[in-house]
Amino acid sequence: MDQFVIEGGLALKGRVETSGAKNSALPVLAACLLTAEPVVLDRIPRVKDIRTMQALLKHMGATVVEEGDNRVRVQAARIDRPEAPYEVVKTMRASSLVLGPLVGRFGAAQVSMPGGCAIGARPINLHTAGLEQLGARISQSHGNIEASAVGGLRGAEVHFDRITVTGTEDIIMAAVLAQGETVIENAAREPEVVDLSALLTKMGARIEGAGTSTIRVQGVERLGGAEHAIIPDRIEAGTFVIAAAITRGDVLVAGCEPEHLQALLVKLRQAGVEITEPERGVLRVRGGANLRSIDATTEEHPGFATDLQAQYMALMTQAEGITIVSERIFENRFMHVPELIRMGASIRIEGRQAIVAGPRRLSGAHVMASDLRASASLVLAALVASGETIVDRVYHMDRGYERIEEKLAGLGARIRRAK
Ligand code: EPZ
Repeated sequence: MDQFVIEGGLALKGRVETSGAKNSALPVLAACLLTAEPVVLDRIPRVKDIRTMQALLKHMGATVVEEGDNRVRVQAARIDRPEAPYEVVKTMRASSLVLGPLVGRFGAAQVSMPGGCAIGARPINLHTAGLEQLGARISQSHGNIEASAVGGLRGAEVHFDRITVTGTEDIIMAAVLAQGETVIENAAREPEVVDLSALLTKMGARIEGAGTSTIRVQGVERLGGAEHAIIPDRIEAGTFVIAAAITRGDVLVAGCEPEHLQALLVKLRQAGVEITEPERGVLRVRGGANLRSIDATTEEHPGFATDLQAQYMALMTQAEGITIVSERIFENRFMHVPELIRMGASIRIEGRQAIVAGPRRLSGAHVMASDLRASASLVLAALVASGETIVDRVYHMDRGYERIEEKLAGLGARIRRAK
């Protein structure tokens, strides 16, 4: 079980490059199922979840060829098995993203029900309800969802009674080959939804309104191949911005899209972190000595991202005063709290709120990661803690952060991976 060993107390300095967005690469890879022609994707991060999705596409019969560092060529000329088996889905619930394209192009799909995960039950009822509104027949047996659409899907009005990112992405991918127009109401507005729509448009899809709450899709007969470089990872970039702030460093976070993380940047500036944009796509972050406590509530984009909540909380342990961090999106996303407390943080959980009292001097400890973003929170805390921290189960980080220990070491952090 891999561990990170981190010696805290060093201010990070230097330049770090942002990788492509994991949460864009996943739907974009699934979208390759919608055409028999090759799709070439750039800036695909080499992280575990992407390898899982690539293996899933191969399992179905697509060819997947990695060309160079972050380029992959996918061709779903023939799909022999329109299915996502349990052994894959249980490791990555985003496998449900193949539902929409499989039903949309082949009129059939069998996807194992994703179990819950550490941060919540995470059902996909909104995905399947949307597909039914497009005319798919959905049944469930033996832990699998079976979807079929004999004669193809028909455009319809799909109204999400709760905003869902991958639900929106699934329905867009189902609608692009449906007969007629689909209108998606209460759609997710995340940049990753916009990026997926940009690829689909290059493939010949007709989509309007991506990035707003109402998305219109005019179905077309078929889609062609395309080349596309995905957007930078706003959560990775936000994590490095916080790393610079918490260590009172001076870091250039390059290759990012500042527009995608405005909610975080506004809060950090209010807290006293100095953030400028010396050139396009580059943020310069200088950590403040006297951080102010600024409350945060996670919201759907463009609100404060739930995927940055744990990292932000680690920073607020160093801020003067009381910070209330409210988690509105997931029901169990405070698992980093007991571990931060073991490092000396003062945090009390009351329902969906965590009350953080700061500043508190953190000391290194042996801690355990529980999910992707909680593990990032522990690494950030370890960077400012005095002494040595060992973070167990860093395979969680490997799911979504490309070479994180190399990137942090490149900024002067004393971090190494141990078996
Ligand atoms: C996406 O997950 C991201 N994953 C998550 O990132 C992110 O935390 C989440 O959006 C919220 O921004 C990918 O894009 C691959 P949702 P998703 O559907 O689509 C409930 C990370 O760390 N819901 O927007 O699964 C759900 O339980 C990951 O990179 C239903 O009830 O999230 C949650 O409470 C973690 N029924 C809320 O909606 C459904 O059918 C929002 O979930 C679908 C969702």
